[in-house]
Amino acid sequence: MATEPRARLGAKLAEITPGDIDTFFFTNGGAEANENAVKIARFFTGRHKILARYRSYHGATAGSISLTGDPRRWAAEPGIPGVIRVFDPYHGIERGWDSVEQALANIEEVIQLEGPQTIAAFILEPVTGTNGILVPPDGYLPGVREICKKHGILMVADEVMSGFGRTGEWFAVDHWKVVPDLISMAKGLTSSYLPLGAVGMRHHIAQHFQDKVFYGGLTYNSHPMGCAAALATIRVYEEDRLLENTRKMGAVMKGLLRDLQSRHPSVGAVRSIGLFGIVELVRNRRTREPMAPFNGSSEEMTALGRFFREQGLYTFVRWNTFFTNPPLCITEKELREAFAIIDRGLDATDKAVLD
Ligand SMILES: Cc1ncc(COP(=O)(O)O)c(C=O)c1O
Repeated sequence: MATEPRARLGAKLAEITPGDIDTFFFTNGGAEANENAVKIARFFTGRHKILARYRSYHGATAGSISLTGDPRRWAAEPGIPGVIRVFDPYHGIERGWDSVEQALANIEEVIQLEGPQTIAAFILEPVTGTNGILVPPDGYLPGVREICKKHGILMVADEVMSGFGRTGEWFAVDHWKVVPDLISMAKGLTSSYLPLGAVGMRHHIAQHFQDKVFYGGLTYNSHPMGCAAALATIRVYEEDRLLENTRKMGAVMKGLLRDLQSRHPSVGAVRSIGLFGIVELVRNRRTREPMAPFNGSSEEMTALGRFFREQGLYTFVRWNTFFTNPPLCITEKELREAFAIIDRGLDATDKAVLD
């Protein structure tokens, strides 16, 4: 059904998404957007394999949890066929980062070994969200873009978490001027007030489906209420200048994160882009042993999470990390108030540092 909110939302999204992405398939949320991205890529290319990364989360439905690389996928295995995984440029707090050249060479090697002609898409979070706010080194995303183009593989940017101003641009790929072939979104699309997701596609991909049926769509897709909520939300981003606020407060937050790192021995690393931030804790500054193991917790991390909640600071504490992802409308006073709580919480984790 054509409805006015749906039509207006498609036109608005075409304005704010990168390059010639101009057609949108609306879904009920993020996981379903990724499901459809996989189907679009497979139908468009006639290939079946999908490349994905280990440190990733793409949603909890059968297909999206198979794309997901982090341990949330384990219980759902074997999952959908055809998913091939590559390493991320980041290897955890102890091993750190690959160079751009190493990271791209690893991807290229996997593609060669799998057979480029069998790979439909490479799905990745441009700035990885729940797996650690991994801001890629400059050159990585443009490099991935080039590799995909060379092999006829569609680049799918999962911007479910990083989209809609979170990083200080409408979409994280905008920082590196990369135009993916498909882009999935949800969450910030309606500020999560109503359920809505979307997968956007470049013009030539949309054209492919002009005379070929796309077998997809669920009863509630493109729900007019969801589309109206998205239009209203985008208007607020613009009227309240939330991208501008995110850039300004993002700079303040970067300073506050660095300050924590310089004063607290348990802070092993901090990363942020816009208002998308994280702190990684270590129990040994020399060996960089994390404060909790991969996919595990520890007494100290549990206590830190409890302290934050008791102090009225609601944030995501996971493994040896906690996130600093405040609302985009946050003020400097509120941000400083939150970091004062974090500061007090870290006094306790500092005591567990051995070396
Ligand atoms: C990067 C990313 N992709 C996809 C999803 C799944 O979105 P949804 O929960 O709306 O299905 C999430 C949710 O956390 C996410 O962070």
